[in-house]
Amino acid sequence: MRLFRQRGRDLAVLSAVALATSLLSGTTAVTAAHAAPTLPAIVPQPVSESAVTGSGFTLAAGTQIDVLSTDTAALGVGTYLAGLLKPATGFTLQVVSSTQPAGNALVLDPNGPATLKAEGYTLTSKSGGVTVTAHGAEGLFRGVQTLRQLLPAAVESPTVKPGPWTVVPVQISDSPRYSYRGAMLDVARRFYPVAQVKRFIDESAAYKINTLHLHLTDDQGWRIAIGALPNLTTVGASTQTGFTGGTSWYYTAAEYQDLVAYAKSRFMTVVPEIDGPGHSGAALASVANLNCNNQTTAPYAGDNWGFSLYCLGDPQHVANVSTFLNTVISTVAALTPGPYIHVGGDEAPATTTAQYAAYVSAAASATTAQGKTLIGWHQLSQGTLPANSLLQYWGTDIDRTSVGAPWESENIQQVRSGVAQGAKFIMSPADHAYLDMQYNSSTPYGLHWAGYVSAQKAYGWDPTTVTAKTDGSSSVVPAAQIAGVEAALWTDNAYSPSSSTPDSGSQFPEPSVYADHMSFPRLPAIAEIGWSPQSTHDWTNFSQRLAAQGPRWTAAGIAFYAAPDITWPSTPGTLNGVHTVTTGGQALDDPASSTTNALQMDTWALHGGNNQKWTFTQQPDGSYTLANGASGLCLDVNGGSTSPAATVIQYTCGGGLNQRWKAVALPGGGYTLASAKSGLLLTTASAADGALVTQQTDTNSALQHWTIT
Ligand code: ACM
Repeated sequence: MRLFRQRGRDLAVLSAVALATSLLSGTTAVTAAHAAPTLPAIVPQPVSESAVTGSGFTLAAGTQIDVLSTDTAALGVGTYLAGLLKPATGFTLQVVSSTQPAGNALVLDPNGPATLKAEGYTLTSKSGGVTVTAHGAEGLFRGVQTLRQLLPAAVESPTVKPGPWTVVPVQISDSPRYSYRGAMLDVARRFYPVAQVKRFIDESAAYKINTLHLHLTDDQGWRIAIGALPNLTTVGASTQTGFTGGTSWYYTAAEYQDLVAYAKSRFMTVVPEIDGPGHSGAALASVANLNCNNQTTAPYAGDNWGFSLYCLGDPQHVANVSTFLNTVISTVAALTPGPYIHVGGDEAPATTTAQYAAYVSAAASATTAQGKTLIGWHQLSQGTLPANSLLQYWGTDIDRTSVGAPWESENIQQVRSGVAQGAKFIMSPADHAYLDMQYNSSTPYGLHWAGYVSAQKAYGWDPTTVTAKTDGSSSVVPAAQIAGVEAALWTDNAYSPSSSTPDSGSQFPEPSVYADHMSFPRLPAIAEIGWSPQSTHDWTNFSQRLAAQGPRWTAAGIAFYAAPDITWPSTPGTLNGVHTVTTGGQALDDPASSTTNALQMDTWALHGGNNQKWTFTQQPDGSYTLANGASGLCLDVNGGSTSPAATVIQYTCGGGLNQRWKAVALPGGGYTLASAKSGLLLTTASAADGALVTQQTDTNSALQHWTIT
């Protein structure tokens, strides 16, 4: 169990830290903290930030990353930083271990005072160099995430950009409000391949998220190999919501360990969730003796919930469940170095109190037997919790309005029981922190049972009042029992149109496309609630800092939603209307004005004919359909492929994701056009007449950069 601390803005401690940091003694004039206009926009807001006069430090090819330690983890942060900076700058910065800081360097000093604790850091940026000081490697890593945001947005680009790479001069002292700051991925309803989980880890780590909760099991799928129970993967992993017949929709032990190691390299703890006694359909389809009739159920690929339940009705079946959980949890625990196992507990169909308690008892003993700390959804408090357990609260403001009333909601009563048992709480209020909730009625994916969650709503709450009365008093969870926050990206309805059950007409974006759209800009809002002092909470200020992240996401290729409650720096004007689309003077072209369905498109010298004219129509997700002026057919990725090199054709317009193209403005002018389904870029083969058009990964090639006029 970690020690949880809660810290507001504590300027006395922080100035002591600053004084204790000898590296600051040579700092040039530091202006007062209220010199706001010159301060960089950082998310999450640091505890204290003040401007430093001067021009700032400019990276060059010869800049060293100077790690004042021989500690492998600290040096690893140096190597990580060099890796972050290389793609956009083109510099291969040398990482050196030294005892004295060099001038004109990026200095990482892990020998800061213990008062910085695990995650605190100070950062000083001035013309002579940049120094991040922490008490160990983890604080350096958090400080490096801030350093990224002091560089131009183009630093996030996967390909070389011109620079200059000047770090804004500033002095920062920072530490987190809560030590648990999570992001959850539901890989059960929709399977995220390893590479896409790693992408999510990187995107989350950039906002100082330190916990990755993997919802590994549900009705629609079982996603982790358990050697002793092979049916869990041969049968239980064969479905996803809207998909059947899979053979590899799970993580092997080696893949899971690779994910855990990758997360660790980003100072992120993995929390594996094995959900039960409800949400257990994939297990019930795989293991006969978990069912009361000892027969497996059929694998399930629908979008329903709340119907599955381990058999807990007699001692033999309780013993079966217990044996099953011991097998599963011991296997998962052995692969998981982090301290936690999440055992679910949500939305179980009606059981007797004793039956539910039997599940909690079995899950808790399987977890504590492995020396792990138990986490469950707040319903788990209906059983007896081991000491030091954590509960994850997912109620809404409807529960809040009932606090203290005679008709207090079940959710709040369960929270009270958890508080009484001494549990600490991870706050994931569904109407603020559930990233699968639609932003508004135009959001193509997701649900709105907890209401629409705009960017402002994602930011508009506080852990200390989310279980309080509406006037903020009488919080059911005392401040000392709040562990932190978690944003939850469920994938129950990660398809479009999400209002209906998935069928052959459903459109499924790549999981990473869905994750980008639903997480950005809301995940950074939750991250800030977990990190920044409550005293900094201010929507106007936050929305401006968040807006400044937009160009970073664009540079990084994050397909974020340009939420309308934020004034983005260069909200792309609509491209609606008729355009030619050219690269190097060669125009996207329907060969010989053909009206043939499924014909591959090409590029040809611009002549302005109708077959080189495209009608752009913006879709609710911000992407465009492109209908050809000669054929009336729509630009389409053949077969909805998500593979590089798939052909781009014209096809009867249907509005599917493979006919939607996301126009991303390039810093130097022009656009890339990314398939809303695959995320891959519209690419022509060459500058020759008749060159064929495909989708390809982003290589920063001129053949992927389009002028739209
Ligand atoms: C949940 O949303 N069922 C935890």
